[in-house]
Amino acid sequence: MRPAPLLWRLLSLQTAAAITVDTTSASSIKSAASTVAFDLMTYYNGNTTGGIPGILPQPHFWWEAGGMFMTMIDYWRYTGDSTYNEVTSEALQFQVGPNNDYMPPNQTKNEGNDDQGFWAMAAMLAAETNFPNPPKDKPQWLALAQAVFNEMASRWDTSTCGGGLRWQIFAFNKGFNYKNSIANGCFFNLGARLARYTGNDTYAQWAEKIWDWEESLGLIDSRHNIYDGATDTQNCTQITRFQWSYNAGVFLHGAANMYNYTNGSKPIWKDRTAGILNASQIFFENNVMAEQACEPVKTCNLDQLSFKTYFSGWLASTTSLAAFTLPVIAPLLSASAKNAATQCNAGSTKTQCGSKWTGDAQNDGNMGIGQQMSALGVIQSAMVAIPGQKIIAAVTNSTGGTSVGNPEAGITSQNAAQMMASDMEVGLRDKIAAAFLTVAIVGGVIGGSVVMVFEK
Ligand SMILES: *[C@@H]1O[C@H](CO)[C@@H](O)[C@H](O)[C@H]1NC(C)=O
Ligand SMILES: *[C@@H]1O[C@H](CO)[C@@H](O)[C@H](O)[C@H]1NC(C)=O
Ligand SMILES: *[C@@H]1O[C@H](CO)[C@@H](O)[C@H](O)[C@H]1NC(C)=O
Ligand SMILES: *[C@@H]1O[C@H](CO)[C@@H](O)[C@H](O)[C@H]1NC(C)=O
Ligand SMILES: *[C@@H]1O[C@H](CO)[C@@H](O)[C@H](O)[C@H]1NC(C)=O
Ligand SMILES: *[C@@H]1O[C@H](CO)[C@@H](O)[C@H](O)[C@H]1NC(C)=O
Ligand SMILES: *[C@@H]1O[C@H](CO)[C@@H](O)[C@H](O)[C@H]1NC(C)=O
Ligand SMILES: *[C@@H]1O[C@H](CO)[C@@H](O)[C@H](O)[C@H]1NC(C)=O
Repeated sequence: MRPAPLLWRLLSLQTAAAITVDTTSASSIKSAASTVAFDLMTYYNGNTTGGIPGILPQPHFWWEAGGMFMTMIDYWRYTGDSTYNEVTSEALQFQVGPNNDYMPPNQTKNEGNDDQGFWAMAAMLAAETNFPNPPKDKPQWLALAQAVFNEMASRWDTSTCGGGLRWQIFAFNKGFNYKNSIANGCFFNLGARLARYTGNDTYAQWAEKIWDWEESLGLIDSRHNIYDGATDTQNCTQITRFQWSYNAGVFLHGAANMYNYTNGSKPIWKDRTAGILNASQIFFENNVMAEQACEPVKTCNLDQLSFKTYFSGWLASTTSLAAFTLPVIAPLLSASAKNAATQCNAGSTKTQCGSKWTGDAQNDGNMGIGQQMSALGVIQSAMVAIPGQKIIAAVTNSTGGTSVGNPEAGITSQNAAQMMASDMEVGLRDKIAAAFLTVAIVGGVIGGSVVMVFEK
């Protein structure tokens, strides 16, 4: 018997791709993003009884939750849907730690500069988008970003490699001997954005210095490829040459902020912005984004599966800071968003996303938080590619930004953190070293390449 027409239509709907997105239509993008965001938030139980705000289920590292809430701020920014604002705000405030600097004691055993940086960049994004401010008696978005920036500045280490931030904050954590692009990229990105937001040139001078250091070692080469990092026991003479999309993104967006901060008056920031964008061709196949260092060989770890969301968000944000990039970035985001959505058709909801968007955009069965975040990040970012679409541009203190800053934030707590670190080193080093070694090698923090380096 033939099914009745309505039933037939329902049945065929079920088997068709569950999400399709018309990247020329804002309402289509909003609707797709809303579905993907809903599935993403079902993985998060930080706002349920017994859950801890800002913590993702094991074995996800703490930093990734910072990255997720950064994505959720952009979700609100691009779609106008405030459904998740409260849960986002709660997480960003809950994890600030006793010194209001994103160093909660629970995370000491695996918190690197990059981990702290991701939470700070989420707070910075909140300031730039006028995301609802926390109550007056709570630490404010801008001050949180400044606290982390100040602490990073105090950790600048000239004892090896001519400067740079170490990957790790604490000497007892594995990776302390590694100076890498993501730790320095977070610092650079924050510096450039704080310069633009506050108008205080000290931040911009730091951004210049960080860029110059990266370049002097060849971590950024003359063609603007950005490499993972280098070990300081060899004075950073041997570069680990993996290229990750989030390194390109964090420096691209920082450079675009410097271009914008200097009002386009310094050609070097235009060249650097354009250069990184050009070098980022390696992250696209037929305009569709791929994490080229691990995706084709199916070795992306839990951290790396989320990188495409940050890259997407930074590409999107770059288009309004440096308008000359829009013609290059728009087709990349719309093609990537279209394919990313097409493969969000599996799992219990029939709308969960896999990890791979290239080729025929079939769901590859590799599903989870990072994969879901990446799809959300690119779909919502495609909003900037719609011609004439009104986009909420990043504000500054003089163009409507309302977040209250504190240029001295974090400095006192830095002393406390250093004291805590040396106490722990003296008292606990032997006891915990073996345990943390295992944790660090198995887990890494960000960037699986580093894990490989240290396993040798
Ligand atoms: C947690 O947040 C999600 C998403 O905002 C919401 O649907 C859910 O109701 C919240 N749960 C509680 C217990 O607040
Ligand atoms: C730290 O861990 C304890 C014990 O699990 C938990 O009660 C607390 O909420 C955590 N704090 C943060 C900021 O994650
Ligand atoms: C280490 O590298 C820095 C920066 O390249 C250089 O200035 C310094 O002289 C080097 N030190 C040694 C001991 O080679
Ligand atoms: C950029 O332009 C604005 C407005 O014309 C001006 O206030 C600001 O000082 C300029 N910034 C720089 C770094 O030149
Ligand atoms: C753009 O990238 C290509 C491929 O890496 C390179 O050959 C070319 O010189 C780059 N162009 C610019 C302007 O950087
Ligand atoms: C800087 O960014 C703002 C906000 O996106 C934009 O209106 C302005 O045109 C940009 N400035 C330059 C020099 O591109
Ligand atoms: C931001 O602007 C307000 C009012 O215009 C001013 O009082 C405040 O000092 C500024 N803050 C910074 C960090 O420049
Ligand atoms: C500018 O930033 C630096 C570095 O954080 C800080 O020491 C200084 O007080 C700031 N200046 C102003 C005028 O806020």
